[in-house]
Amino acid sequence: MIDVRAFEAGDAVTVASWVDGAEALTTWSGNAGFSWPFDPDQLVAFHAADPDRHTLVATEADGTPVGQISLKPDARRWSARLGMVLVSPQARGRGYGAAMFQAALRVAFEEMKVHRVDLGVYTHNASAIRLYERLGFQREGVQREVTLVNGEWWSSLTMSLLAHEWTHG
Ligand SMILES: CC(C)(COP(=O)(O)OP(=O)(O)OC[C@H]1O[C@@H](n2cnc3c(N)ncnc32)[C@H](O)[C@@H]1OP(=O)(O)O)[C@@H](O)C(=O)NCCC(=O)NCCS
Repeated sequence: MIDVRAFEAGDAVTVASWVDGAEALTTWSGNAGFSWPFDPDQLVAFHAADPDRHTLVATEADGTPVGQISLKPDARRWSARLGMVLVSPQARGRGYGAAMFQAALRVAFEEMKVHRVDLGVYTHNASAIRLYERLGFQREGVQREVTLVNGEWWSSLTMSLLAHEWTHG
């Protein structure tokens, strides 16, 4: 099982070490504005500039960090945007992503009490889209060609889950 706790500045070094290239950086952070080579200071500055963002770190039972996810509610708390979804490369494919999502959805629906959670995922990120569909997210539409990576435009699929659709894991 995993636990989740609030992100601390000291986690930035660990999280940055999970990003192993420019494409991986964009796949994870989208248009957040990070640049390659990525360094922990960019992540610390990003969080410091955005106090409304609620970032969670998923840990194994012994406290080892294995993932990160963040929630940003809108001003009315009707909706929250899920983002910065990352599981350490060594820990992928073991259900941590799904468990981390359920923990974040619990915060969104039970603590923030939002009505909907949405996210953007690049259309070629099939494994992530499968995970989100397993969790009940529905496809809303595609933002076409929003991100330029090595001369190629990437499109982003918007997906959402409403409070009454959430199955609580
Ligand atoms: C997307 C991401 C967060 C998923 O995390 P994860 O921990 O690998 O997710 P899960 O383990 O819950 O599911 C991934 C796969 O493992 C499989 N799996 C889950 N638990 C498993 C288990 N106990 N044994 C074997 N396989 C398992 C799932 O069926 C799934 O398979 P699929 O991809 O063929 O559908 C992770 O791949 C990641 O960090 N990717 C890079 C960054 C990224 O793409 N972020 C999303 C941006 S929107």
